[in-house]
Amino acid sequence: VTPVDTFSRIYLENPTGREHGLSAGAETALNGLRQERAPLLDRPYNRRWWRNAARLEPPASGSFAVDEGTVRFGRPGDLDEGAMRVLYGALADLKSWRKGPFNYAGIEVDAEWRSDLKWTRVMELIRPEIGGRRIADVGCNNLYYVYRMLEHDPALVVGLEPVERYFFYHYLNTRFYRDSRIRFELFGIDDLALYGPFFDLVFCMGILYHRRNPLLSLENLAAGMRPGGELVLETAGIPGDGELCLFPGRRYMKAPGWWFLPAAGALVNMLDRSGFEEIKIHGIFPLTVEEQRRTDWVDTQSLEHFLDPDNPSRTVEGYPAPVRIYASARRRS
Ligand SMILES: C[S@@+](CC[C@H](N)C(=O)[O-])C[C@H]1O[C@@H](n2cnc3c(N)ncnc32)[C@H](O)[C@@H]1O
Repeated sequence: VTPVDTFSRIYLENPTGREHGLSAGAETALNGLRQERAPLLDRPYNRRWWRNAARLEPPASGSFAVDEGTVRFGRPGDLDEGAMRVLYGALADLKSWRKGPFNYAGIEVDAEWRSDLKWTRVMELIRPEIGGRRIADVGCNNLYYVYRMLEHDPALVVGLEPVERYFFYHYLNTRFYRDSRIRFELFGIDDLALYGPFFDLVFCMGILYHRRNPLLSLENLAAGMRPGGELVLETAGIPGDGELCLFPGRRYMKAPGWWFLPAAGALVNMLDRSGFEEIKIHGIFPLTVEEQRRTDWVDTQSLEHFLDPDNPSRTVEGYPAPVRIYASARRRS
């Protein structure tokens, strides 16, 4: 069996959501896109993840739990010493771990982001209704939030990630625990429109400021949602009361992928002009090194290196440091 056989087959076997009311037209369009994306999993730089994942032994317990914000797969003692070595190697090869915390059979993976803090804010401030809903998590990364949703009993949670390396985190998780409510798709934010009016609830967190065309992406989100469906949006922005966006030069926080950073008033206008109503801003928070920091599971620099050491309200480039804005809206009917 070649890698592409294995992983594209596993990926393509994943049902699209027809059993949850997805239209036949949407299913055809989504299947076409999947056929295009599946071969990406066999790119040469993905092969070591394929080899690692194939060597993993599924643990006896197949357990999953959330414990004080840590997503736990399996338990200590589930795997023998040799299998633990293979597991540790597979986890280490997946560095840098951006979202977490996770624990696999007793191995703590302390990721760069304390994603549990963001999730707690979302659940306390926005309180989205998850039970029985068809949900998309756009840019789901290693699916941390997807697993956090399970305790609220969703009907379906589709994690969308166009970056194929995240398929391997998904695969790793499914070696420990399988749940038919969870789906993973190699799709990006703009592909959500292909679902047609479908999702009841969409999470779009940490994505909008990375989009060159944020209004188009918001319109595509709206197109994938049913009228009245709920959007939970968390984005980096700038502090202040004006209806302004910062559009930085080629680097912001040392990276080229930052485009429009709205103040909250501008974010409201962006949502209003892209097909949303009942727009609410629930909170605006500075980013701290408690929430984003370098750990043993991260090979790159982190927040502390991106802010001016003498003035943490500025980036190293001299721009205002970002805040995180928590918003919600409904798709206009
Ligand atoms: C800053 S992370 C946010 C992850 C997570 N949603 C969170 O809030 O913690 C951005 C994520 O978007 C993913 N991504 C990249 N291009 C994307 C696209 N076109 N559509 C959706 N997500 C994308 C990245 O791979 C990455 O996992």
